[in-house]
Amino acid sequence: MGFDRASADWIYEAEDLEGTGRLAAFLAARATPGTVIALDGDLGAGKTAFSQLFAKHLEVRDTVNSPTFTLIKEYEGRLPFYHMDVYRLTLEEAEDLGLDEYFYGPGVTLVEWSSIIDEILPERVLHIYIEAGLGSKRKMHLTGRGDPYGQWISTLRENGAALK
Ligand SMILES: Nc1ncnc2c1ncn2[C@@H]1O[C@H](COP(=O)(O)OP(=O)(O)OP(=O)(O)O)[C@@H](O)[C@H]1O
Ligand SMILES: [Mg+2]
Repeated sequence: MGFDRASADWIYEAEDLEGTGRLAAFLAARATPGTVIALDGDLGAGKTAFSQLFAKHLEVRDTVNSPTFTLIKEYEGRLPFYHMDVYRLTLEEAEDLGLDEYFYGPGVTLVEWSSIIDEILPERVLHIYIEAGLGSKRKMHLTGRGDPYGQWISTLRENGAALK
């Protein structure tokens, strides 16, 4: 079952990188072992930029680079942070590499181009489709599948203005 941004649960409009950082901070503060955030959006939409901001708020001190060529990179933060980019993979290759094992590990996983591996994403996942707008404006289409993501989105709906 894929994610359709037209039926997203909530849309966050970031004016600039700082705005993207406020959403990343909200999510990183709530992350627990097994949190999985699935990212999609066009080339250059900001998946890596969002991941870097998320990592910063998860207290990752190392430089987080785009994992397009490394596929998966692990970092140490408040929790282990697993950063994936499956752009160059097929579903079968991702399965063979056992990427799904990370989802159930002790850390937090962010996956760029997650729709490629939709079939092996966990039952509970937060999906974010990043849509680039003019200049540094970005629309983040959030869909929560299962708890606690539904709860996070309810909180954002009620207090979303606090992110602005
Ligand atoms: N509000 C914003 N949110 C995220 N990125 C922004 C924003 N405004 C400007 N940017 C810039 O947009 C660029 C996004 O590039 P990034 O590498 O993060 O995209 P990507 O989606 O990971 O691309 P790829 O598909 O190649 O992996 C960065 O240079 C970033 O600084
Ligand atoms: Mg990227």
